[in-house]
Amino acid sequence: MRLSKKLAEDISHWKKLEGKRTLLRPLQRRDLQRSLLWLTDPMINKYLSQNFKDLTEEQEEKWFSYIQDSEADIVFAILEKDSSDHIGNCSLNKIDHRNGRCELGIVIGDKDHWNKGFGSDAVDILVNFAVEDLEIPTVRLNVYVYNQRAIKVYKKCGFKLIKVFKKDHLYNGKYWDTLIMEYDSRLVQDYQ
Ligand SMILES: CC(C)(COP(=O)(O)OP(=O)(O)OC[C@H]1O[C@@H](n2cnc3c(N)ncnc32)[C@H](O)[C@@H]1OP(=O)(O)O)[C@@H](O)C(=O)NCCC(=O)NCCS
Repeated sequence: MRLSKKLAEDISHWKKLEGKRTLLRPLQRRDLQRSLLWLTDPMINKYLSQNFKDLTEEQEEKWFSYIQDSEADIVFAILEKDSSDHIGNCSLNKIDHRNGRCELGIVIGDKDHWNKGFGSDAVDILVNFAVEDLEIPTVRLNVYVYNQRAIKVYKKCGFKLIKVFKKDHLYNGKYWDTLIMEYDSRLVQDYQ
């Protein structure tokens, strides 16, 4: 059965979206100020597909209102399980039930939490939510080739490289490849 966005959010309220190290809950207005600090941090936004360098509170507020009404986007806050601290955000975007696909985005905003397994844990929860609860078999994402940490995480979580856009992203005076990676639950099942 296909779930509406409202139902999907309800599920995420009553069903614990819980991994070994993190919990996901729908993003709330009170999370926006902290999220803005993360998105405008040059150490973080160099990895993101949109340029959030000059993002303002007003623009973020507008984005949040848009997300609330959108049937095609769900954004979660990532909480550290032990402390309940809000350490990042992740999302499913462009949710396309007809073609069974969506896109994944993630930021662990608190840099002290990088390389401690939180990102991999959150990606696993999110992919499982897409496949099991939304019944979306295919999850895609874009990642720049210089983001080797993220590429490692996605591979660990079962994503495969499906396409490369050669030297299409300008960063730090150089052109870099953008990789398209995909998790296909049908493929994974077939080969297990
Ligand atoms: C990418 C991101 C989500 C990963 O989350 P994380 O919690 O730091 O990642 P994890 O600790 O789960 O895993 C990181 C893995 O990459 C490895 N790694 C770290 N730096 C690396 C590098 N330069 N090259 C290769 N692997 C690297 C780690 O050793 C670890 O692998 P392991 O578990 O086998 O030891 C997080 O770092 C982040 O939000 N970065 C900034 C924003 C971003 O890049 N978002 C994704 C955009 S596509």
